[in-house]
Parts: sequence; C-alpha cells; structure tokens
Amino acid sequence: MRIVLLGAPGAGKGTQAELLSEYLQVPHIATGDLFREALAKDTPLGREARAYMDRGELVPDAITIAMVRERLSAPDTERGFILDGFPRTVEQARALDEVLAERGRKLDLVVFIDVRPEVLLQRLSGRWICQDCQGVYHTLYNPPERPEICDACGGRLYQRIDDRPETQRRRIEVYLAQTAPLIEFYRERGLLVTVNGEQEIARVRDELRSAVDRVRTRA
Ligand code: AP5
Repeated sequence: MRIVLLGAPGAGKGTQAELLSEYLQVPHIATGDLFREALAKDTPLGREARAYMDRGELVPDAITIAMVRERLSAPDTERGFILDGFPRTVEQARALDEVLAERGRKLDLVVFIDVRPEVLLQRLSGRWICQDCQGVYHTLYNPPERPEICDACGGRLYQRIDDRPETQRRRIEVYLAQTAPLIEFYRERGLLVTVNGEQEIARVRDELRSAVDRVRTRA
C-alpha cells in the first residue's frame, strides 16, 4: 500500500508511521529524517537544507522532490511505503502523483492526523529522539524506561534544535500556510481519512489500522 500521513509538526506522524510500517511491512519514509541524516553526514544536500530547517521553513520544493524521487526508486518501495512529512506543498503533491504515474501507480490512502495547535506545542517541547534508530519518545506521554536511553536499541536520546519554542511556532505557521491546503486537495480526490490525533497513541494506531484495512478489503 502507498500511504501518506498528513499533519502538523508534532501531530504524531513519525510515531504512527513507525507503527504502521511494522504492521504493513513497508518502509517508513520521512523527509525530515532524510534531511537530518544528510545533515549529520555533512553532505551538500544536508548543508543546503540546514538553514531552512533551523529557521522552521520548508526546504525548497525542487530539492525535496528530487530527494524523494530518488528514494522512491529504491526496490524496497515495490510493495508500498508510508510517507511522513511529504508532500508538504501542492507542488510536492503534484510531483508525487507524477512520480507514481511514471511507474503506473497511485496513492491508496492519505490520513490526516488532526491535533490542535496548543497540543502540538506541548508535544514538541517534551519530545526526545533516539540518535541511532530515530525512535520517538515524550517525557510525559511516552517516556523511555531509562531517562535519555532508547528502549528499542539502547541509543542516546536527544532533543531537536528545531523544537526550540520560537522555531516550533514558525513551523506551525508554515504548516498552516503551505501544508494545510493539502487536506482539501486530497479530500477532493477521495483519498482522505481524518483521525483524531489527540487520543492515546494506541487508539490512534488502531484507527489508522482500521482505515488501512478498509482500503485493503476494497482493493
Ligand atoms: P519533520 O522532521 O518532518 O518535522 P515535522 O513535520 O515538523 O514533524 P515532527 O517530526 O515534528 O512531528 P510528528 O508529526 O512526526 O510527531 P511525532 O510522532 O514526532 O521536518 C523537519 C524539517 O525538515 C521541516 O521543518 C523542514 O525544514 C524540513 N522538511 C521535512 N520535510 C519537508 C518537505 N516535504 N518539504 C520541505 N521541507 C521539509 O510526535 C511528537 C511528540 O508527541 C513525540 O514526543 C511523541 O512521543 C508524542 N506523541 C505522538 N503521538 C502522541 C499521542 N497520540 N499522544 C500523546 N503524545 C504523542
């Protein structure tokens, strides 16, 4: 299955994409993770993306689309994928349609994880991420068993630079201006399912699985 998870910064896209990836046995592709990987390796792509990411702005479409096009050409996407953080503009959404059409494919489902801005800010402030496996934790809502250590792989947890309060707010503004229009874009195409992202992680997971199973039984 080819699925897009849509939602504001902190809505829980990464958390749910990981769970869904295990459920469906297809790769979780997060553009934010791809940029952070490039940044950590100090590649030209990473250097180019850094300035935008640090300010909470979107990396230009041309750069992002080229990166995703390459990732989607890898053999592990044959059986499907879960996209997290892409597309984020109408131009990216159109480019995704084109890339898939070139391979005779289409998206199966877009899930909008709906969370109010005040809740997003709390989530981003308490978030910790594993530097090795990118596992996501929260001080209150999903704490690791040992402070600052990943339950899954024992890696060190860190807080993202763009989770600083002023950058959090900018990311949410950018989301509302540039990404929120995609909700209508996908609703008009009959692909959109909305899930209440303010429920517990396991509840959101179950609703997402039901949405996926409904599409699977239709196919
Ligand atoms: P990216 O890494 O994609 O960040 P984001 O969209 O801002 O999303 P987040 O990773 O912040 O949140 P999330 O929805 O994954 O939430 P999470 O599961 O972690 O992008 C970073 C930057 O890269 C962008 O600003 C941009 O510069 C660039 N970029 C990336 N993609 C791009 C693109 N397509 N175009 C251009 N530029 C791009 O959860 C958040 C916290 O809440 C965690 O602590 C988690 O444990 C907790 N939590 C999750 N679910 C729940 C729940 N149900 N209840 C309670 N707590 C929960």
